[in-house]
Amino acid sequence: MGDSTINQKVTAPAILARKGGPKIRMVTAYDHPTAVIADRAGADVILVGDSLSNVVLGNDDTLAVDLDVMIHHTAAVARAKPNALIVGDMPWMSYHVSAAEAVKNAGRLVREGAAEALKVEGGRKRREVVEGILDAEIPLMGHLGLTPQSVHAMGGYRVQGKAAQDARELVRDAVALDEAGVFAIVLEGVPTLLAEIITKEISAPTIGIGAGPHTDGQVLVFHDVLGLHDGHLPKFVRQYTNLQEAAVNSLRDFFSDIEKGEFPSEDESYSMTEEAARALLSDEPRGDPFDAF
Ligand code: KIV
Repeated sequence: MGDSTINQKVTAPAILARKGGPKIRMVTAYDHPTAVIADRAGADVILVGDSLSNVVLGNDDTLAVDLDVMIHHTAAVARAKPNALIVGDMPWMSYHVSAAEAVKNAGRLVREGAAEALKVEGGRKRREVVEGILDAEIPLMGHLGLTPQSVHAMGGYRVQGKAAQDARELVRDAVALDEAGVFAIVLEGVPTLLAEIITKEISAPTIGIGAGPHTDGQVLVFHDVLGLHDGHLPKFVRQYTNLQEAAVNSLRDFFSDIEKGEFPSEDESYSMTEEAARALLSDEPRGDPFDAF
């Protein structure tokens, strides 16, 4: 675990203060055990991302999860009581209808899901929503670039800001979010140069995913880093282990021990006193217990 996080609860202001300092370590987690793992490894921020739709629930996109699902998973993460800051992802359509509805939904994710901060996708288009949530005293993280909730509008999962004019628009979005008061901005699927420019331009830390090395922090999806699925991995993912393979091999060993009669052993079984065993074994067979009825 990194020194900066030992036994110290991470807060949104503490993340804001990390601008230009030690790189922010963020990873997703979706339930109690994944939160414990992320926290023990020294995450500064645990994002209960709507990517759970893909990697936990098997959907093709993030549009399939609603607020109740996000609350359910965020609450499970919160029960792990991590030192890391718990950021809950606002799902698609929970903040797109009106700012008033967005604030109410944000309140539910904090009150019922125990999120300590929230994340919404989008820039200037979401300004009213961003201001409303911040006015409700809820720390907010922005998310720009390849925003998966816009998959249909973007025409697929495509790197954003490759053309100079698109890149300038993203810089303006980042500046608007920064001025509104978000405590960090995720930059996903954008060219390295653009992420570097935005990082220099704004006072909130940037956290990159497929945005090159110059951001103030990095985030990846838990199941991608640990090889917990065999779906498509984008080129920006570094997979550090293959837990799916390790799990399959371990379960194969378990099933093989069952077949061979080698599981359970005596050590893995319960015994009774010799006296009780003798008494039990000396019992007369009692015939059909249903005779009495
Ligand atoms: O839902 C998610 O996992 C995310 C990260 C990719 C930033 O939004």
